[in-house]
This record gives sequence, C-alpha cells and structure tokens, in this order.
Amino acid sequence: MAQTWTPNSWRQKPIQQVPDYPDLAVLDSVEARLAKYPPLVFAGEARRLKSALANVAEGRGFLLQGGDCAESFAEHGADTIRDFFRAFLQMAVVLTFGAQQPVVKVGRIAGQFAKPRSSGVEKQGDVTLPSYRGDIINGIEFTEEARVPNPERQVMAYRQSAATLNLLRAFAMGGYANLENVHQWMLGFVKDSPQAERYRKLADRISETMDFMKAIGITAENHPSLRETDFFTSHEALLLGYEQALTRVDSTSGDWYATSGHMIWIGDRTRQPDHAHIEYCRGIKNPLGLKCGPSLTADGLLELIDILNPANEAGRLTLICRFGHDKVAEHLPRLIRAVEREGKKVVWSCDPMHGNTITLNNYKTRPFERILSEVESFFQIHRAEGSHPGGIHIEMTGNDVTECTGGARALSGDDLADRYHTHCDPRLNADQALELAFLLAERMKGGRDEKKMVVNG
Ligand code: TRP
Ligand code: MN
Repeated sequence: MAQTWTPNSWRQKPIQQVPDYPDLAVLDSVEARLAKYPPLVFAGEARRLKSALANVAEGRGFLLQGGDCAESFAEHGADTIRDFFRAFLQMAVVLTFGAQQPVVKVGRIAGQFAKPRSSGVEKQGDVTLPSYRGDIINGIEFTEEARVPNPERQVMAYRQSAATLNLLRAFAMGGYANLENVHQWMLGFVKDSPQAERYRKLADRISETMDFMKAIGITAENHPSLRETDFFTSHEALLLGYEQALTRVDSTSGDWYATSGHMIWIGDRTRQPDHAHIEYCRGIKNPLGLKCGPSLTADGLLELIDILNPANEAGRLTLICRFGHDKVAEHLPRLIRAVEREGKKVVWSCDPMHGNTITLNNYKTRPFERILSEVESFFQIHRAEGSHPGGIHIEMTGNDVTECTGGARALSGDDLADRYHTHCDPRLNADQALELAFLLAERMKGGRDEKKMVVNG
C-alpha cells in the first residue's frame, strides 16, 4: 500500500456496485461542475468530530448515529428534518444520562442517498428493470425511464444536502436544541407511552437534575452549552465519482478531506482491501466507519485497519458491527479479541438493524425485540471482554411510520401496510427509537452499578 494516493486513484481499482450510466460524457460534466461547488462541511469540523470520537474510543463517550436508510427527494421538507432532529435529540439526552458520558451526535443525513443492492436488477412479474440505487442515482418508480441512472441527480442530492445541513446547523445552534425543550418533549413521550411507568423513573431523575441545575443558577441564558449542541453528518461513501468531486485540500493542514459530510462509512459489500472504496477512503482524513458483517474474518479486519488507520489514531475508525441478534455472540468476540490483542484503537458501534431484516406479509421489516436483543448482546459481550461498547448506529425517522414491528405499541405484521414509507430498509419510528434509548439507558446504569459493586465489594 505504499502507492501514492490521489482523489482519483480509486479509478485504477476493481469496483463493486457501480451504476450503469448510459452517457459517460454527461457524467463527466456533472462531476466537473460538482468539483467547483462549495464544500458542504469543512475540515475543521471533521477534525472536531474525530477528536470527539477519540474520546469514545478511549471509553469516555458514546456515539449515537442514526437516520434514514435512504434519504429521498420526494420527502425533502422542513417538517421531516425537524421531526427527525427532535427524536434524535431526545434519544441523545436519555443516553447522555444513562451513560453519564457525552454523546457524540452523528446523523445519517444530508448525503445518505446511494444504496448498495444485492442484485443489479429487480423483477416484477415478467418485467425486469435495473434496481433502484438511491435517489442520487435513479428513481424508485418501477418504470424503465425512472430506473435509468441519471447524473443530474447528483446535483440535486448535493443541493438537498446543503439545504438539510443548513437547517440542522440552525436547529443545533439557534436555540431549538435547548436542553430544556428537549427535556419537555421527552416528558411528553413518556406521558403518552403505554410503557410510561417503566420510563418515568429515569425521566424523573433527569427532571430533578434539571431543577437542581436551575436552582444553582445554571441556565441556558448563562451557559450556551445548554442551548447548543454539536451535530455531525454522515453517509455511506458509495458513489465515488460524487465523493471525489467533493474531495478538497484543507488549506490549514494540506490534507485531503471528503467535504460531502463529516464522517463517511464503507459498506459491508464494498470493503475488499484491494478495491476502489477502500482505496478512496484510505486517503482522506475524515473519521471513517467500516461496516463489519458475519463474513469479515479477524485477519481481514486487521488488514483493513492497517490500510485505513496505519497511524492507529483514535477517532479515525469506527467499526459498525451488524451481525444479527442470533449471530452477534458468534462473531463479535473474535473481532474484539483480535483488535484488542493488536492494540488497535477503534470505536465499537452496534448496528442492530441490518442483520435483523425479515419478510412479513410481503414487507421487509425488523422486529423491535431482535433489534434490542442485538444491542443487549453487544453490551454484554463488551462487558465480558473488557472493551468499551462505544455506540449504536440505527435507521430511524421522526415520523410515525409502521415499518418495524413490536415496541411499546406492539405494531404487528398487519399494521405494516398503514404507513410503510421507507425508500429502502424499515426504520424505527420516533416512539420506537426513543424507547430503544430508554431501554439502553436503563442497562447502562445497571452496568455502572454492577461495576461499583465490584469496586466496593
Ligand atoms: N451541549 C450539550 C450536548 O450536546 C448539552 C445539550 C444541549 C444537549 N442540548 C442538547 C444534549 C440536546 C442532548 C440533546 O451534549
Ligand atoms: Mn439500510
């Protein structure tokens, strides 16, 4: 791997998951245009996220990463963004309290448009068409016209990302993220939940803490950190032509950064060490995620770690584990042991979504119990191995969709048809997402009490 890296050196490598653009001249011209557009994020922000993640890698923080499986052009609007942010911040408060550690907040948003597919084509009846690959590539409608990859969509994705990021920055810094607001929303959720009794204890303790702070004069007026929050963006770096167009040199450090988002990740299907996606990602300085599925061997992981993080810099690499509730116990311990043995600094994060997808009544869905079960196993395994369960990565929305079964409202297979809106995989709705945060926070606290007993006993 001593070969020199350039923003386009990935083009010399084998590559998976490439759209079949009919007119490469149009593609070139779009990429050339994008290369002149302003960056969406700047290097200083990516470095700030990296240092926050370094704390997580060292056991002093927790990563909350979540958002749509695939963002959509049709559903782009202020309400969707606000409702997502609202649900996400409530989760963050609950998890901050549960972990008693800072929560690093990273959305799957403002750039999460390209989807890897298990098959290049989709068949309905006698008709076979190219698969939908995300709004940045083609349309979801099952027509020949919609499914032709169209480069102009990259410009639309760029503009939607810019608008989304603009609103998120305003929300994060302009008062909307005030802890007092978020706390009030959270109390509203608890009051209306069928599991109110269960969540009230934790909610009451947060309320008491807030009242205590107020009593001693710590308020949002005199403490900006109570009304502002750092919120970062992330997406899968799948469409490398788009990523390359937004790859820029940081004038302060002279380093290359992906400016399409703060953090980007490499999918489980595109992590071949000698292929294009790994080549592109090794050369940019952003924090990186690597999806780890059941087929990843311990040696394979160590090889990838050496390519992606040769300096063993904490915060550079987040391992996003997605095994499935029934496979996590088989696969996670061997990866943890290899990484710990070699002294590699990583953030361990759990994606309990992608290994738990089933089909029910012709809908792709995910049972809430399995999602919770994978996260619980993830925590138990880390506790047993003495490593830090550093975060979760989930697919969620702020809306009241019916895509995952279960949860406090016990959505059943028959409910799926009501509001099944996702463009790709099933997401937790706002209540299910918040519920997951409460159940996790409960366990984090349980884990700390256990540790104290060991220390004191
Ligand atoms: N600034 C702190 C943080 O981001 C506290 C905070 C303010 C906060 N608003 C928030 C935490 C909303 C979670 C959600 O952690
Ligand atoms: Mn997905």
